[in-house]
Amino acid sequence: MGAHSVFLILFGVAAIAIVVHGQGQAGFISIDCGSPPNINYVDTDTGISYTWDAPYINSGVNANVSKEYGYPANPVLPFPLADVRSFPQGNRNCYTLTPSDGKGNLYLIRASFMYGNYDGQKALPEFDLYVNVNFWSTVTFRNASENVIKEILTFAETDTVYVCLVNKGKGTPFISALELRPTNSSIYGTEFGRNVSLVLYRRYDTGYLNGTGRYQNDVYDRIWSPYSQPSWNTTMTTGYIDIFQSGYKPPDEVIKTAAYPRSNDEPLELSWTSDDPNARFYAYLYFAELESLKRDESRKIKIFWNGSPVSGPFNPSPEYSMTLSNSRAFTGKDHWISVQKASDSTLPPILNAIEIFTAQSLDESPTTAEEVYAMESIRSTYSVQKAWTGDPCAPRLFPWEGVGCIYNDSDDHHIKSLNLSSSGLQGPIALAFGNLSYLESLDLSNNNLRGFVPNFLADLKQLKYLNLKGNNFVGFIPKALRKESKSGGLALSVDEQNICHSRSCRDGNSIVVPIVVSTLLILLIAALVIICVIRRERKIVDLGAYSGPLLPSGKRRFTYSEVSSITNNFDKVIGKGGFGIVYLGSLEDGTEIAVKMINDSSFGKNKGSSSSSSSSSSKVSKEFQVEAELLLTVHHRNLASFVGYCDDGRRMALIYEYMANGNLQDYLSSEAAEDLSWEKRLHIAIDSAQGLEYLHHGCRPPIVHRDVKTANILLNDNLESKIADFGLSKVFPEDDLSHVVTAVMGTPGYVDPEYYNTFKLNEKSDVYSFGIVLLEIITGRRSIMKTDDGDKMNVVHYVEPFLEIGDIDGVVDARLQGDFSSNSAWKFVEIAMSCVKDRGIHRPTMNQIVSDLKQCLAAELAREPQSLHEKKEKNTKTAPVRKYSVSDYISSTGSVSLTFGDYNTYGPTAR
Ligand SMILES: *[C@@H]1O[C@H](CO)[C@@H](O)[C@H](O)[C@H]1NC(C)=O
Ligand SMILES: *[C@@H]1O[C@H](CO)[C@@H](O)[C@H](O)[C@H]1NC(C)=O
Ligand SMILES: *[C@@H]1O[C@H](CO)[C@@H](O)[C@H](O)[C@H]1NC(C)=O
Ligand SMILES: *[C@@H]1O[C@H](CO)[C@@H](O)[C@H](O)[C@H]1NC(C)=O
Ligand SMILES: *[C@@H]1O[C@H](CO)[C@@H](O)[C@H](O)[C@H]1NC(C)=O
Ligand SMILES: *[C@@H]1O[C@H](CO)[C@@H](O)[C@H](O)[C@H]1NC(C)=O
Ligand SMILES: *[C@@H]1O[C@H](CO)[C@@H](O)[C@H](O)[C@H]1NC(C)=O
Ligand SMILES: *[C@@H]1O[C@H](CO)[C@@H](O)[C@H](O)[C@H]1NC(C)=O
Repeated sequence: MGAHSVFLILFGVAAIAIVVHGQGQAGFISIDCGSPPNINYVDTDTGISYTWDAPYINSGVNANVSKEYGYPANPVLPFPLADVRSFPQGNRNCYTLTPSDGKGNLYLIRASFMYGNYDGQKALPEFDLYVNVNFWSTVTFRNASENVIKEILTFAETDTVYVCLVNKGKGTPFISALELRPTNSSIYGTEFGRNVSLVLYRRYDTGYLNGTGRYQNDVYDRIWSPYSQPSWNTTMTTGYIDIFQSGYKPPDEVIKTAAYPRSNDEPLELSWTSDDPNARFYAYLYFAELESLKRDESRKIKIFWNGSPVSGPFNPSPEYSMTLSNSRAFTGKDHWISVQKASDSTLPPILNAIEIFTAQSLDESPTTAEEVYAMESIRSTYSVQKAWTGDPCAPRLFPWEGVGCIYNDSDDHHIKSLNLSSSGLQGPIALAFGNLSYLESLDLSNNNLRGFVPNFLADLKQLKYLNLKGNNFVGFIPKALRKESKSGGLALSVDEQNICHSRSCRDGNSIVVPIVVSTLLILLIAALVIICVIRRERKIVDLGAYSGPLLPSGKRRFTYSEVSSITNNFDKVIGKGGFGIVYLGSLEDGTEIAVKMINDSSFGKNKGSSSSSSSSSSKVSKEFQVEAELLLTVHHRNLASFVGYCDDGRRMALIYEYMANGNLQDYLSSEAAEDLSWEKRLHIAIDSAQGLEYLHHGCRPPIVHRDVKTANILLNDNLESKIADFGLSKVFPEDDLSHVVTAVMGTPGYVDPEYYNTFKLNEKSDVYSFGIVLLEIITGRRSIMKTDDGDKMNVVHYVEPFLEIGDIDGVVDARLQGDFSSNSAWKFVEIAMSCVKDRGIHRPTMNQIVSDLKQCLAAELAREPQSLHEKKEKNTKTAPVRKYSVSDYISSTGSVSLTFGDYNTYGPTAR
């Protein structure tokens, strides 16, 4: 078995390896758990391409099996079993699998475990295995060299499948290999539909004893154990049998051999005893006639279970394989399947193969999707350093650290308590907390949170305990919270010195005071402005809900004349965008801002001509104000801060923070990009992905950007990227269909083909555009480029030919001179290509993209730390190394330094 020593190191992760290896392993995920970094290889025994596991999990430690079980002492050891990943930390550790076929499909998942005394303890552990929130199996061992294989057929309700190892206090869980295979969703049905998973009990290739058990022509990569009994004989054929007729597709070798009883009148019998008398078994029996029957011969078969007829009589077909199964589960302790010949059959019964499964109920509910999104958003916003993987509440005994749940059998789980005390949180309180609507207890004490205590906390109707001590909040406790606290409905802890709690704040609406204070300042400067603001006394701003940046003046609504003076009479144009021209502005204190004036025409043209132009423009103005106020509440460190607006009923402007390094499109084509390392590119990608993730999953209702492109991604002096121009589609709603039909919003080169064809817009349209952005980051090329012969070419078409031949160096920006981890690069390209799939449903969500990109970053960082370190030092001058943390909005506006974008000349275009 020298075969084991021969293995190929491929560049790609599993999905990319398909490109290299052809269609055979499409959709396979094959993970060699615990293997050294960046190892990807083809197991020559099986022809299967394995990849290392870091991209799928971020906890656990690697170990090799001990000498006596590994090579060279044990040359027949399957390669993936030579090392393991073990989980000494945490009760629950989960692998996150994202099958390329996505949700709504049936998957075979197989986990392999060989202890091999990897920890030197000579103690066989016992632990549990879960798929998503449901119990799968308990893993136990008889000895250190036993290869325990667990296999389950499960239907994916979501795009991600979690495989979790749960520590029951009987030893440290570990895993050797993990595999996922797509199967045909219309097979392996049960009376419960897809409400159960099928856990493999036995899979026998009856009649054949020489097989390896694993056949390359099994499209689902099932492992068939050769099986026979002394009283059985074997028959086989070399003729053609159609295995495709039914979706079960047994391998040729399996179906072309069959068992039959040595003695003509005997049945073929299989029996087993179940440990669990309530277990529900399903058997799938495979038949095909392998002999050419003479005229007077017939083979008719009946199937019995515990003496009762289950199926038949039927004749196996000589042309194709057929699969029979029990429509009602077999239950009880003792089971006995008998394949018999019917009374009018001249030939004995045969059996080509059989699979037996137990049904595992999917009776555990997940946590409500909205709360899962909220928790994921909290995790990513604050980079929470906890083992938060899988579902927050389930399995029940092991919710996420710091999370308490409400379990109600007739409902999804809800999050009841969240303790993020001393967890290093920085920045404002994220909106996502407001989505945990069942929260009773929230402990955010001893972090570095700042800004206002937001109003939305008062919308948490169940909240009974709120601890905000040990943070840097300013301003006032929202009235509603104060009221709850006074009436005893809420135990509220805050630092008194930072927060105004007193009677003087309480008069009237708490938000009035800050406005009056800042207004007084302005009064000294421009009394006229105040009169204007007061006269228009609409509900101006709800500061309580505002946790983002403020202009130093505290002001967010400007008059036209102020805007004119801020921009020095519209002196310096810094960009032109779809909606209008962008000017550089400067506040009294020198803070630089970008002012985007909205074309009159952007407004007028979409509106109905039936109403008079003046009434239509006042309607627009009103919509504009409502939307602008809404956008002012949207804040995230990766969204360009929208800090104010102007609206005098006719002329409108949006005011943004200014960002020094301009937009990504210009940056990528500038000389500065020579120094843009692979790691920095990943940071930029992750930043902007997080911005979009927040729009899609952190905002309620979600905001679809509609014009994601490199020109709308801005870079500050630290090269942190922020998404700009989000929410403009909300400011300018398309209110009549004709407009929708004639003008697909967006920019050529970035428009989602599905949206373009169907006019159905959703978050996945942004994902497409973002895929193009990623390809630009990877290749350093424009979304639409000129070819040598003067034609135009989309970056997707530019990349595809390189991928087909597996040439990653051809894809990646030549300016990097090959200085990147090829694993990271393959994964990055894979993510980008998955975003630009034709069908939106096949594209990943922004949540997924963020977590995948972080894995790319991890892969890059895992590469030769020495040389990376040197590089970083070299580059500090141009772009300081930065930490991942929620930025401090409130103070950052005091020294807003850079950026503003949309310098492109494309606009919303009709095609
Ligand atoms: C396991 O063995 C391989 C090959 O000998 C080695 O490269 C790797 O570092 C070992 N892993 C651990 C965790 O010891
Ligand atoms: C370990 O257990 C397996 C399964 O029972 C058995 O096949 C194998 O022979 C055992 N190996 C040793 C070394 O005892
Ligand atoms: C399976 O679940 C669906 C809903 O998910 C339900 O409508 C159906 O009745 C269930 N079927 C069985 C047999 O439990
Ligand atoms: C299995 O292998 C043995 C020895 O290699 C051979 O004699 C026998 O014919 C084979 N059986 C089948 C069914 O192929
Ligand atoms: C799944 O199996 C059914 C028959 O059961 C077949 O009609 C269908 O084409 C199969 N789908 C795929 C994707 O193979
Ligand atoms: C079983 O197979 C052997 C050889 O393969 C053959 O000699 C014998 O007759 C067979 N038994 C029956 C009942 O067909
Ligand atoms: C469980 O959920 C159901 C449906 O949402 C609800 O009617 C019931 O009151 C809940 N039970 C408990 C104990 O909360
Ligand atoms: C939150 O956890 C900290 C320690 O981790 C503990 O001191 C505190 O009491 C917990 N808060 C609540 C509300 O249980």
